[in-house]
Amino acid sequence: MQTLPLRSKVLRNGLELEKCIFPTDDIEDGFHLGFSSGDKITSIATFFWEDYPDDAVGGVRLRGMATHPDHTGKGQGAAIIKFAVNELSSQNASYIWCNARKIAMGFYKKLGFEVISDEFDIPGIGPHFNMIKTLT
Ligand SMILES: CC(C)(COP(=O)(O)OP(=O)(O)OC[C@H]1O[C@@H](n2cnc3c(N)ncnc32)[C@H](O)[C@@H]1OP(=O)(O)O)[C@@H](O)C(=O)NCCC(=O)NCCS
Repeated sequence: MQTLPLRSKVLRNGLELEKCIFPTDDIEDGFHLGFSSGDKITSIATFFWEDYPDDAVGGVRLRGMATHPDHTGKGQGAAIIKFAVNELSSQNASYIWCNARKIAMGFYKKLGFEVISDEFDIPGIGPHFNMIKTLT
């Protein structure tokens, strides 16, 4: 599996791979997407059904969005989000939400996500906002 090394490198500052596993990684109906460049996975994200605490039912949470630094700015992350939007729309999901790093907010905004929380800190990672994209 190439997800954990990429998560570790891009999102967890080289943390050992076992600690980069999310408790929800094997959850029923969740899925992992990867963008491949040749034989390497260079952009990843994970999606699973979880409502945003103050919002409606039919929510899907996005976690672990990461593009390898050698491949950023090539549309790989956007391709993953767009694929997920199509797939989840066909599954009648209502919205996708995430804890968005402040430094990545511009990426999510380009893809139609809106800010729905005040800024909050995740210790060791930094400032975040909750963001949501409504599916039609
Ligand atoms: C944020 C990240 C996932 C973007 O992935 P990417 O594959 O480089 O993104 P794309 O090339 O598909 O970018 C899509 C659009 O968003 C823009 N964009 C990408 N990252 C951005 C950022 N950090 N701030 C503002 N805009 C950004 C791109 O310029 C592009 O705009 P365009 O459509 O006008 O050309 C990637 O930079 C990354 O892994 N960053 C480090 C980890 C991280 O912060 N992950 C998010 C955790 S919440």
